[in-house]
Amino acid sequence: MQNSEQKVRFKIFRYAGDVRPRWQNYEIPLARGMTVLDGLTYIKEHDDSSLAWRSSCRMGICGSCGLLINGRPQLACQTQIIELKPPVILKPLPNFPVIRDLVPDLMEMFHQHRHAKPWIIRDDHHEMEHPTSEYLQSAAAMENYFQFSYCIKCGLCMAACPTVATDTRYLGPQPLAQAFRYLADSRDEGFAGRKNSAFGSSGPWRCHFAGECSKVCPKHVDPALAIQALKRDLFLRTLRLKKIAPVAMVAPKLQAATPRPDIPPAPERTVP
Ligand code: FES
Repeated sequence: MQNSEQKVRFKIFRYAGDVRPRWQNYEIPLARGMTVLDGLTYIKEHDDSSLAWRSSCRMGICGSCGLLINGRPQLACQTQIIELKPPVILKPLPNFPVIRDLVPDLMEMFHQHRHAKPWIIRDDHHEMEHPTSEYLQSAAAMENYFQFSYCIKCGLCMAACPTVATDTRYLGPQPLAQAFRYLADSRDEGFAGRKNSAFGSSGPWRCHFAGECSKVCPKHVDPALAIQALKRDLFLRTLRLKKIAPVAMVAPKLQAATPRPDIPPAPERTVP
């Protein structure tokens, strides 16, 4: 049975640019199934309309509500208050500049992500721009990259990474996992195009393999695996030991269906 008297304390990092950061406490009534995002919404509606955070979908898809919740990067909309040890301590994601209160500036991550050229690159430009059919890919070939395509760009992996915290040149787990997602795609032939951006001196060799990125990913993507696979791939290519599979071909055009023979209309009948 729900206890209407049960309350929980939220201790929240406040920052408004010009003012020095401070902590602010709020007490909210706890309801069954309440998430941290629900708690923030309650505070905004009942206690303090000046509190700022970011959210949109409320269902772990848009990736905008990442916070440091009791010391761990998590999505506010997927974290149940009841599962946390009170008080609930909220800070903006580390390793990003803070815009205001709980809102981090993710622009640098998106910029790094662009470095990975996260799209299919092929030499058959005409086919890419005026497709005549789809590219052939087996289910086994799709397995090579599929889990990495679940990335929602929430930045939790970047916030958890100790190398991102200390090495400003490191691209980080999010862009590198996405670089591997396309490198491992049998339809892509963009290795040369990404060589100097994603695989260069800011790339996977700077990873210390702490593995924190994979522990915090809310979509169970394994960026640490992608980065180690990238290292292996680059190593084999450098030694010319990598067998490069031919790029996926365009599927043959489907035969136009044979037109049905004309069927004569049923004879008109009159009711006797
Ligand atoms: S609000 Fe979209 S992931 Fe949480």
